[in-house]
Amino acid sequence: MAIHRRHLTAAAVGLSLASMLPGFAQAQKKIVLGFSQVGAESEWRTANTESIKLAAADAGIELKFSDAQQKQENQIKAIRSFIAQKVDVIAFSPVVESGWDNVLREAKAAKIPVVLTDRSVNSKDTSLYVTFMGSDFVEEGRKAGRWLVDKMKDQKGDVNIVELQGTVGSAPAIDRKKGFEEIIKADSKFKVIRSQTGDFTRAKGKEVMEAFLKADGKKINVLFAHNDDMAIGAIQAIEEAGMKPAKDITIISIDGVKGAFEAMMAGKLNVSVECSPLLGPQLMSAVKDIQAGKTPPKRILTKEGIFPMETAAAEFPKRKY
Ligand code: AHR
Repeated sequence: MAIHRRHLTAAAVGLSLASMLPGFAQAQKKIVLGFSQVGAESEWRTANTESIKLAAADAGIELKFSDAQQKQENQIKAIRSFIAQKVDVIAFSPVVESGWDNVLREAKAAKIPVVLTDRSVNSKDTSLYVTFMGSDFVEEGRKAGRWLVDKMKDQKGDVNIVELQGTVGSAPAIDRKKGFEEIIKADSKFKVIRSQTGDFTRAKGKEVMEAFLKADGKKINVLFAHNDDMAIGAIQAIEEAGMKPAKDITIISIDGVKGAFEAMMAGKLNVSVECSPLLGPQLMSAVKDIQAGKTPPKRILTKEGIFPMETAAAEFPKRKY
C-alpha cells in the first residue's frame, strides 16, 4: 500500500518510472558503441567488419561505425566525433601503433572507456584503454618461421627470402617481421634478400612482387607475405613471370582467409598461418561487461592454428571467413 501511494505521488509530480528506478532506465537504454575500423584493405578486414556489425545487431548494441580508409587522421577524427556524441564505449583497430596518446587522453577525460581490437597501440600509459583483444602477431610470425625452418631442414646452401610487409608502422607488420626473424636467425642459410611494404593489399602485393622478380628472378626461393591478400597478388606476379607459385617459390602467408584456402587447394600457396577476424562477439561481450561495471582482462588473446596446403581441402568447408 505504501509503495502504491509513492507511485501515485510520483506520477502526480510528473516523475517517470525510469527516473524513479535508475536500473529500469538502464535496461531500456541501448548501449551505444563507436567503432573506428582501419579500412577495407583485405579479405580479412571485410570479414572483421561483418563480424562486428553482426555481433552488435545480435547483442542489441547500437553501433556507430566509421571506416578510416587506412588513415590515422581519419581514425582520430572519428574518435573525437564519438567523444562529442557521448557514446558509451569507443572501440577501434589502430591503423598504426603510435600517436594515440592525445586522443585517448581526451576519451579518458570524457570518461568514455576505450577497447582496442585486432591491433594494439604502443602507449606507455596502459590506463588509456580498458582491454586489448586480438591475435599475438609475434607468435604468428614465429609460426611462419618455424614452418619454413622445418620445410627446409634438409636444404643445403642459402635460402633466399623476399618479404612483403604489411602497412608501415602497423602492429601486425612490426610484430610478424619480428617473430619470423627471431626463428630464422638460428640458421644463417636463411637470408631475407628483400623486404618492402605491400600495405596489406593484393594490388600492392602484386606490384612489389613484380619489382622483386625483376631484380632477383630465379634467385628467390621463398616469399613471406604478412597477409594472404598480398600473397595472392604476388602469386599473380609469379605466374605472369612464367614461374610456378608454391613450387619454384615457396609461399608463406598469414590470415587463413577463404581466398588463401582456394589458392592452397589450387597448389599455389604452401601455407597460411591463421589470424582470426571474428572478434565481434568477444567485443560485444566486453562492451556489455564494461557497461555493467565489470573489468575485462587487460589482454584477450585469440586462439589460432596454422594450415599447410595439404590440409586445405579438408579444412575449407569448416572455414567461416
Ligand atoms: O591487423 C590484422 C591484419 O590487417 C590482417 O592480417 C590483414 O589482412 C589486415 O589488413
